[in-house]
Amino acid sequence: MTARCLEPTSANIAMAVERLLQGELVGMPTETVYGLAADSRNEEAVRQVFITKGRPIDNPLIVHVAQPEQARELSPDWNATCDRLAERFWPGPLTLVLRHGGRVNDYVTSGHPTVALRSPAHDTALELIRAAGRPLVAPSANRSGQLSPTTAAHVLDEFPAEAFPVLDGGPCSHGIESTVLALSDDVPVVLRPGAVTLAELREELPRVEVPVIGEQVAAPGTSLRHYAPNTPAILVRTDELDEQLAETEVPAVVLSLGFREASLPHQVIEMPERAADYARGLYAALRRADLLGGAVIMIEMPPLTDGLWRAVNDRLRRACVERA
Ligand code: TXA
Ligand code: MG
Repeated sequence: MTARCLEPTSANIAMAVERLLQGELVGMPTETVYGLAADSRNEEAVRQVFITKGRPIDNPLIVHVAQPEQARELSPDWNATCDRLAERFWPGPLTLVLRHGGRVNDYVTSGHPTVALRSPAHDTALELIRAAGRPLVAPSANRSGQLSPTTAAHVLDEFPAEAFPVLDGGPCSHGIESTVLALSDDVPVVLRPGAVTLAELREELPRVEVPVIGEQVAAPGTSLRHYAPNTPAILVRTDELDEQLAETEVPAVVLSLGFREASLPHQVIEMPERAADYARGLYAALRRADLLGGAVIMIEMPPLTDGLWRAVNDRLRRACVERA
């Protein structure tokens, strides 16, 4: 463990809180992916988050709260539906987008009239927010457009030269980002499929709409290429994979669903066949695929698009969009 990577002991959490309150950044574990946390009320700290990530300033940040009461203060539209959603899904991987009515600063929301709110299901994250006594912004702790980190070591890999500490909360249990649900229009819309599934949401909100996978939605931060490895990646159907591999002369790294053999120069990373396990390991597998140094990553297309596979398929499609 390097000096920047800290066990989440009381002393280290207290130190991290002190840093946050001084306007510095902290790598924060959550149940979805690691976040780059900063004091949401400190304009300079929030600016540092954008600069550190190389994030376009028109892509707003999620505000992380310790409990629903803290979220309620940030939107005049917090209502019984929000209470119900928070009761069922918080702390957990659901982000609610609501009008803020001027209660949140433009530097957090990129000037949008709405704010994204979530309460993470991770003891260390909740302790940090509680001890800081204020909500924390925390985008995924990766350089803009790259793969989200699901271990503390991934955060250090993304930011080797930066000085901020990373609290090591172990590997993320979900491994895929939160579901972003907009409640700011007449009809509730899923802006980003995530760890909370559409079926779960519809049990609480039958009218929830969701864009077709791979289609661009009119929301900030939904650029098509995202969550992407450095190596070009393509999605290949199972029944076409053998033929494609045989025809590929450059070394390929295959992310296969379950066991598969491939002859050199190709290499295989075996992915789990259960959606939850696949999601948990996806970003680490793509990072590994990058390190294996193939010329192309061939991702065996998961057959299903329901449940958690929807979020997985969304990320896979974005990972495969060519660099502009
Ligand atoms: O699971 C997660 O949500 C992780 C962990 C760290 O909490 N965070 C995360 O943050 O994925 P980030 O910044 O990488 O992605 C936040 C997403 C972006 O797509 C952003 O555009 C969207 O939330 N978002 C933030 N504020 C919004 C708003 N006011 N309206 C619509 N979308 C918003
Ligand atoms: Mg992100």
